[in-house]
Amino acid sequence: MKLQNKTAFISGGASGIGRGVALRLAQDGAAVAVVDRNLAGAQSVAAEIIAAGGRAEAIEVDVTNAASVQAAAARATLKLGAPQILVCSAGICTLVPFAMMSEAIFDEMISVHLKGVFHCAKAVADGMIAARWGRIINITSVAGMNGGGSGLLHYASAKGGIIGFTKALAHELAADGITVNAVAPGLIDTPMLRASGMPDSVVEQLAQKMPVKRVGRPEDIAAACAYLASEEAGFVTGQVISPNGGAYL
Ligand code: NAI
Repeated sequence: MKLQNKTAFISGGASGIGRGVALRLAQDGAAVAVVDRNLAGAQSVAAEIIAAGGRAEAIEVDVTNAASVQAAAARATLKLGAPQILVCSAGICTLVPFAMMSEAIFDEMISVHLKGVFHCAKAVADGMIAARWGRIINITSVAGMNGGGSGLLHYASAKGGIIGFTKALAHELAADGITVNAVAPGLIDTPMLRASGMPDSVVEQLAQKMPVKRVGRPEDIAAACAYLASEEAGFVTGQVISPNGGAYL
């Protein structure tokens, strides 16, 4: 129970990686605000945590909207205490070739990912500074480091931006006892991957091409987040940890 007496605020907590992180941090003792635009999904994850004996609150949010995120952070503080751990996992992914990419499609991706992490950090940083302890963990992607592939210009731009954001904020908040790190997953089996329309056979082919011969699971990412959220990781800041099965070495 390494995270007892800590509150975690997890955007995108209703599904996939965010859900895996919410369950893991709750297992480690944190009270968890499961924050997502999908309220029913967030409620189901919060119910799972409570059924296992933990503390959780489901909160509806749109991370692209500063007022919505501020309201979510205020509710989390009221119900569970001020968040000292922030994990930003909310995200979307579409495949759009550059030739077809409109400004609106590009803007939406930047807004959900890059402005999303900005709004979330803004909403919780004051509480962390007051506590002189905090952990900010931004979920980026291998695509933010290698461009991802055709059709991912907007996604790779947003995820690469998150890496720069993470390093810059790490500089600013280090003296306040707050670490800021990024986790860059490789291919992880989540509803996002399945919604991409990729058939099981293609997922299996991709798995066989990976050095570890499998795609990742949300638990693989949750383990990295649990480490970065812990007391032991206090000397780690401004880093990108990439659990990717050896796909990007
Ligand atoms: P997912 O689709 O299972 O979960 C994403 C969650 O974010 C959903 O619950 C969705 O409702 C929420 N969300 C989307 N837009 C939102 C908004 N505006 N406000 C609040 N919540 C919003 O996807 P998955 O795979 O768990 O992805 C989580 C993060 O991991 C994303 O940032 C994604 O880009 C990143 N990632 C995923 C990889 C994968 O292979 N699945 C690989 C690398 C990074």
